[in-house]
Amino acid sequence: MPTARERGRRASVPQAAAPRPLASVAAGETIRRSTGLGELDRVLGGGLVQGSVVLVGGDPGIGKSTLALQACGALARQGLPVLYVAGEESPEQVRLRADRLGMAEDGVLVVGETSAEAVAELVATTRPAAVVVDSVQTLHTAALGSAPGSVGQVRESAALLVGVAKAQGIACFLIGHVTKEGTLAGPRVLEHMVDTVLYFEGDGAHALRVLRAAKNRFGSTNEVAVFEMGEAGLTEVTNPSAAFLAERPVDAPGSAVLASLEGSRPVLVEIQALVSRSGLALPRRTAIGVDAGRVALLIAVLEKRARVQLYDQDVFLNVAGGLSIGEPAADLAIVAAVASSARGRPLPGDSVVFGEVGLTGEVRAVGRAEVRLREAARQGFRRCVLPAGSLRGLGRVPDVDAEGVASVGDLLRVLELA
Ligand code: TYD
Ligand code: MG
Repeated sequence: MPTARERGRRASVPQAAAPRPLASVAAGETIRRSTGLGELDRVLGGGLVQGSVVLVGGDPGIGKSTLALQACGALARQGLPVLYVAGEESPEQVRLRADRLGMAEDGVLVVGETSAEAVAELVATTRPAAVVVDSVQTLHTAALGSAPGSVGQVRESAALLVGVAKAQGIACFLIGHVTKEGTLAGPRVLEHMVDTVLYFEGDGAHALRVLRAAKNRFGSTNEVAVFEMGEAGLTEVTNPSAAFLAERPVDAPGSAVLASLEGSRPVLVEIQALVSRSGLALPRRTAIGVDAGRVALLIAVLEKRARVQLYDQDVFLNVAGGLSIGEPAADLAIVAAVASSARGRPLPGDSVVFGEVGLTGEVRAVGRAEVRLREAARQGFRRCVLPAGSLRGLGRVPDVDAEGVASVGDLLRVLELA
């Protein structure tokens, strides 16, 4: 029996929405627009969905504002009004960037505003097809007493805008900074509120930029876009493998080409290792673009299972081009690069490598071997060293020889590094 108090509480429950059969719910059509950048459209799942909210995160200086402004220009060229809310820069600075990008569109409205309520009001009155908020960290709302930039402020301000965008069917780009440590100071708390989360990566010293979908309610998160930052903004890179291998040294020890998968797309990248005599009691292990813990493990496997002496050597690893690689298929290329540098012998210039390495030195199969092989062949490589397990059921790929290896020892023998 419910107590009187419980009955009272139940009475105050608001009118619930009436459930209806799922089959009677109209699926609704998603209206998509091109952002003018084919690569961006692809990561979005085939264009910008009307009424969707997209969070774009990345390090300062990576190109978030440039990307957003270029998308604004393309939408304006289709006759769609867009609103650019500049919280970090002045409208004059945005204009300067637009000039640099060669944008002469009339359809882009710009405003320097940081009050979330004022932005919501502007969006409601100007009714643009899309709005860019650059950046969400600069917004503040009068609803909270806390300082601008605090997590609460960012969350409340974004919630207000997401509500307006959804209610009016306006596409919304929220730009957020990630700190170097990877904690999106604030914006990470927004991930569950938005439809799509895109992260822009690359290192400032290189022109190549990778845009990844970390979440997408309107498409796959398996897509990545590759751009190049040039004098007049971002351009699409249609052959990422060639771009990532452009500066590869020939016949240099320590350089291995990995046939990697970036989402659903095969990309060849160069893994570089430098092994040099250490003067330290605890030799240095530095990894850029690959997980340092994984590298430490692979170094231990090389020592123990293949007798490559590394305990008194510094080991530096780098993924050329500023890409970061998370897939275990990189293991074999890391091992090959380290062994090559340790032995002072270059790998055959026409070969690529991929595969996962286990703790006993065994080489484990990885997915989509054929796609990787085809990309290697397309880029002119003639030889591929891959897990023996990945050879099973693999059709012959023209122009490239696939050599299966079962252990790290096998790998070193095949590459003449034993
Ligand atoms: P920006 O879009 O301002 O980065 P974010 O908004 O992520 O902080 O771009 C930053 C860098 O890009 C800056 O160093 C200048 C450079 N850049 C170019 O090289 N070419 C260009 O056409 C533009 C607009 C910027
Ligand atoms: Mg910016």
